[in-house]
Amino acid sequence: MHMWERLYASAFEKVKANIGNVRGVLLAYNTNIDAIKYLRKDDLETRIERAGKEETLRYSDELPEKITSVPQLLGSILWSVKRGKASELFVESCSTRFYMKRWGWDELRMGGQVGIMANLLGGVYGVPVIVHVPQLSRLQAGLFKEGPIYVPGVEDGKLRLVHPGDFKGDEESCIHYIYEFPRGFRIFDFESPRENRFIGSADDYNATLFIRDEFRERFDEIASKVDLAIMSGLQALTRENYREPFETIRGHLEVLNEKNIPAHLEFAFTPDETVRNEILKLLPEFWSVGLNEVELASIMEVMGEKGLAEKLLAKDPVDPIAVTEAMLRLAKETGVRRIHFHTYGYYLALTDYRGEFVRDALLFAALAAASKAKLGDVPSINEVVQAMGVPVNEKVKPVEGTLAEEYGMRGGIAEVDNYQLAFVPTKIVAKPKSTVGIGDTISSSAFVGEFALEVSF
Ligand code: AMP
Ligand code: GLC
Repeated sequence: MHMWERLYASAFEKVKANIGNVRGVLLAYNTNIDAIKYLRKDDLETRIERAGKEETLRYSDELPEKITSVPQLLGSILWSVKRGKASELFVESCSTRFYMKRWGWDELRMGGQVGIMANLLGGVYGVPVIVHVPQLSRLQAGLFKEGPIYVPGVEDGKLRLVHPGDFKGDEESCIHYIYEFPRGFRIFDFESPRENRFIGSADDYNATLFIRDEFRERFDEIASKVDLAIMSGLQALTRENYREPFETIRGHLEVLNEKNIPAHLEFAFTPDETVRNEILKLLPEFWSVGLNEVELASIMEVMGEKGLAEKLLAKDPVDPIAVTEAMLRLAKETGVRRIHFHTYGYYLALTDYRGEFVRDALLFAALAAASKAKLGDVPSINEVVQAMGVPVNEKVKPVEGTLAEEYGMRGGIAEVDNYQLAFVPTKIVAKPKSTVGIGDTISSSAFVGEFALEVSF
């Protein structure tokens, strides 16, 4: 059997056998509802003609800062289609929100990094999770899977953990409209080079990182119930509104670090440079960070590494030497102990500790990602094993060769500047059902999988 196929099979068995060792994971802060619309050419063209083609096309060249009109919405969708790139903007105007609602959706799905990870870790892997849900409407509650998934509430002064389905009350619905398109999607004279999506978020809570009272007042108690924490949702903040939530997060990280609970930051594309800089300053408090090439390049930019940033975006597959150099820069600058990079075709993890379990957790994550790409959801651990049938990405062979040549990598592991570098080629689903949430699936599976293997050693 091919070396990687063998490693895949044994990594899956190991993680599956040990994932039950994790006592609990805290997930904060962003949970929402994803209303997914698979775009149709005729429908979109008609809408653009009706809204005004000339004005709409303007936004397909340059994205607005936020969406305040229908031509801005349609133009931003075109911006993503033209480039095959993901983007997300806040929808401010209620008339545009109403337009999106009437346009409708094909599917309602759990959304937000936290929501997606909660259903995967709690609902599929059976790992207990405590989840921050800024607003818990009945619609939102219904999207949580069965399993050890809990939201905290305070009753008679006591902290109580309940499944979101048992939460009493009906709060607001935070809806993100996800416009998905396949590779080769044609509209006017554009053709999308890759499958991807544009997100318009009609959500006043996650956008400003609203943090619930239970998490402000009872954080210590909540944290004492978990082994690990994963944080995300800082990406939509702006220079005007980041200060207050950042103060709360800093406080939360202090509590986690006092209790020796490793915290992972799931970085997401953060358009505001001030906020990106502030995240960089917060990174020393995290154990681990997860990101893709666009996100890593955006961090290199604020670190003054413009050349590296450009190299990261220049090639497909992404140049692994540029990635490793960027990861080393980031690790040395912030002291973060683990950096998990994912891109189309391969993952890398740079850690200041060593062991095959780091690579094995990446392999497990790649199986989960393939299952998510294929079905749009990971329904059960059995579907994860089905992904073993998806072939390993052959286009990545030269990447492996380069790493072997440059760093003497063997079996996906090398030593670079006193760090361990772990590499895996991933399985790529040729016709994915949808693209949203794959990154979250990868990062949470790898981080929690790694810990499960590590504690079993
Ligand atoms: P993000 O850009 O953070 O949402 O993460 C997307 C990640 O999903 C990429 O970096 C790839 O590793 C992975 N991915 C995207 N498309 C596919 C696919 N068709 N099959 C398997 N993995 C995919
Ligand atoms: C962002 C979006 C959310 C989506 C998630 C997937 O958090 O706001 O709608 O579900 O990304 O990664």
